[in-house]
Amino acid sequence: MDLLLLDELGELPSGRIAVLDDAHGALAAALADRTSSSVVAHSDSLVNERRLTHLGVEIAADLTSALVGTQLVVLRLPKSLDALDEMARTAAQIGANDVRLVAGGRTKHMTPSMNAVLATSFEEVRASLGRQKSRVLHAAGPKAVKQPWPQQRHHDDLGLTVHAHGAVFAGTRLDAGTALLISQLHHLTDTEGTVVDLGCGTGILAALLARRFANVTAVDVSAAAVASARLTTSGSVDVRRADGLSEFADASIAAVVSNPPFHVGTTKDSTPTLKMIKDAGRVLISGGELLMVFNAHLPYLPRLKALGRTNILVRDNHYVVTRTIRD
Ligand SMILES: C[S@@+](CC[C@H](N)C(=O)[O-])C[C@H]1O[C@@H](n2cnc3c(N)ncnc32)[C@H](O)[C@@H]1O
Repeated sequence: MDLLLLDELGELPSGRIAVLDDAHGALAAALADRTSSSVVAHSDSLVNERRLTHLGVEIAADLTSALVGTQLVVLRLPKSLDALDEMARTAAQIGANDVRLVAGGRTKHMTPSMNAVLATSFEEVRASLGRQKSRVLHAAGPKAVKQPWPQQRHHDDLGLTVHAHGAVFAGTRLDAGTALLISQLHHLTDTEGTVVDLGCGTGILAALLARRFANVTAVDVSAAAVASARLTTSGSVDVRRADGLSEFADASIAAVVSNPPFHVGTTKDSTPTLKMIKDAGRVLISGGELLMVFNAHLPYLPRLKALGRTNILVRDNHYVVTRTIRD
């Protein structure tokens, strides 16, 4: 798909080119080779961002700094329409007057709604012919659009206003798995130690934990999640962009609470969560707790039992919530 995208770019502009969510850095590297214009890359995922650091292109920490003044935006279409909407509106608002956007995707993951989302922010939207199961959308002619991102919604039942950028899991909604996990937070033992919300998304769990625990840290690999969680938790939580628990020392954490990821991009993948469970074993103090919600069919229970005594606290038609006490 990267080759199709590069073939579809047309004449490269003399000004800034932004590359978004380039998973392996191939697009940014090829563009930096083909032009003397400045190429700036932004990846929502820190794991992907780290793959770009050796390319010598500018790395932007957020969407706004990536897109300001840009003439061309090149991206792989995100799974989420909201993520695409925030990218398109930001480009139309703060890109150059002649900014255009070229977005590639696997045809099986593309929907007409993507064209409609782009047409909110650009006058002309057209699709390329498909090639090798991929297709490219072209958008040009930025419109004067409003910027609704980050969005916010007040949840009366939680007494909490949730803020969400477009790329964040569940947006401003309360996910059913998260709700089930919230119903079990009272099982956590009181502690002055650090309580971590691992894979914090918009920061709902972290914000609720901070009402009871003095030291709450929220961690997410996604820049959009971290920016959203900082707004949702409004200073009550230490929010960090990190890959899992990698930055925590051994036996330093009293409790980990998590609604972990079940996708990487468009693919279902248990690998990040299995790594999180293993890392939880490393960072939890003896007697520390791991509270986790997951889809009941996923293969996590044996791994949790290997860490320590594990109980199922509740289960519904889709999810189970488990509590593991570190041996
Ligand atoms: C299912 S969502 C849950 C979000 C939030 N806790 C909630 O319940 O609404 C999982 C989150 O894990 C994050 N994530 C995925 N891989 C990660 C990793 N390696 N390290 C930290 N967070 C990760 C995703 O960005 C996403 O925000």
